[in-house]
Amino acid sequence: MYPFWEVPLVTSGMIIAFIASFHILPSHLATGAFWFNAYIEREAVKKDRPELYDFLSRFTLLILIFCFVIGSITGVGIWFSATVASPRGISGLIHNYVWGWATEWVFFFLEIATIYVYYYTLGRIDKESHLKLGVAYALAAWISMVIITGILGFMLTSGKWIETGGFFDGFFNRTYWPQLFVRTSMMLGIAGIYAIIVASRMKNKAVGQEIVRKASLWGIAGMVLGAIFTLWYLFKLPESVKDMAFHGGLPYLKTLLCVAAIAYLIVLLYFLIFGLIRPQMAGTVTGIIILLVLFIGIGAGEGFREGARRPYIISQYMYGNQIIARDVPALGVKSEVAKYQEKGIAKSLYWAKHLDLDRAEDRIKAGRMLALFLCGNCHSFEVNGIIRPLPSLLSRVGVEEAEDIAGFMDALGDYPYMPEFPGDDLDKELIGEYLATLPKGGE
Ligand code: HEC
Repeated sequence: MYPFWEVPLVTSGMIIAFIASFHILPSHLATGAFWFNAYIEREAVKKDRPELYDFLSRFTLLILIFCFVIGSITGVGIWFSATVASPRGISGLIHNYVWGWATEWVFFFLEIATIYVYYYTLGRIDKESHLKLGVAYALAAWISMVIITGILGFMLTSGKWIETGGFFDGFFNRTYWPQLFVRTSMMLGIAGIYAIIVASRMKNKAVGQEIVRKASLWGIAGMVLGAIFTLWYLFKLPESVKDMAFHGGLPYLKTLLCVAAIAYLIVLLYFLIFGLIRPQMAGTVTGIIILLVLFIGIGAGEGFREGARRPYIISQYMYGNQIIARDVPALGVKSEVAKYQEKGIAKSLYWAKHLDLDRAEDRIKAGRMLALFLCGNCHSFEVNGIIRPLPSLLSRVGVEEAEDIAGFMDALGDYPYMPEFPGDDLDKELIGEYLATLPKGGE
């Protein structure tokens, strides 16, 4: 076992969620923007309209700074936070997809190299070659999305991989194509908003408004297609996930989906009103407000997408508490649930060997470690915790005494969204004794 990263009130998972939701703004801008850029540059070259180059230069500078400074920092932030929050989860992904990531990084490198060359050669090399650079960037950036979507999708619906252990069985999983199409459409929508902000600040108002209109059309196309592909994605979700989200189970998933849909509609209205009907009204302030709305929508949408994989962190394979859920004979991997139910966690882990489990104090320490490892990825321990506070939930189900909590551990596996308890009777007793020391939910 690795050390545990405890984040009071919100759990470590929420830190990743926050960074990752923010990262969507620069990452999808980086992949989407240059399709629009190339389109505008093509107009400039084919119709000989040098006045459009002012937009290209401003838009590219924004992308350079926002995507390749803030986007890069948050990208590393996802790796860093995910590695400390779920080291075994990340390890599981690396063991299966290290070559996927290596391939993605080749395209990522191409992306970085071409955008710098593109920006610094603007107006300095012949126009046709410069346009080609833009298209090269757009392709490299989009291909990095084609690859990363397979790995991210694998975590959520691992498909036939669980039987075969095959790279492509997990990669082209059942939600791969809908997710790729949703992201491809969304990237045009996100790029549209940024393009409108940049164009509305141009000195040449007539040209600015013309670009605002064009960006809105791209945005509207992206949003409408994105909605259609999202329905396809929802349709492709496994039945168990649909049950959990739409028929009881976890009702908050439906709420998240509604929030995302409302944010989506507001962004669509923005494109219609500030883009097509009154482009002269588009500006920086409205643009930033709409980015905030989009951020809330993305957070909610991601909350649904990630929530739908409960109780797993890697669908069907590894539980949210980083315990391997089942045998994967093709890879020689064995279920750890069965192993720990037989051998016991406290009895087999090194740190427990330094404790004297006949002493009450040490039992509480061991119980706390077990509770952190087995519940702490999904639950906060504070009575006023924001993310699923255990004290309140235990009071809600009416188990507050040590023995009752220990007994409740047998029921965990009956919930569709929680892992079964991977430990023996001693582990249950220790967790019960520790959780009973927390303040009660009603207090
Ligand atoms: C993979 C994530 C995950 C893990 C690990 C996990 N839970 Fe949960 N648990 C949930 C979710 C999601 C809910 C639903 C919360 C809600 O209703 O808002 C929940 C609900 C509960 C509830 C309330 C049940 C009810 O009927 O309302 C209790 C009690 C609980 N968990 C205890 C635990 C304990 C104790 C552990 C550790 C041994 C644990 N959970 C591990 C995700 C998890």
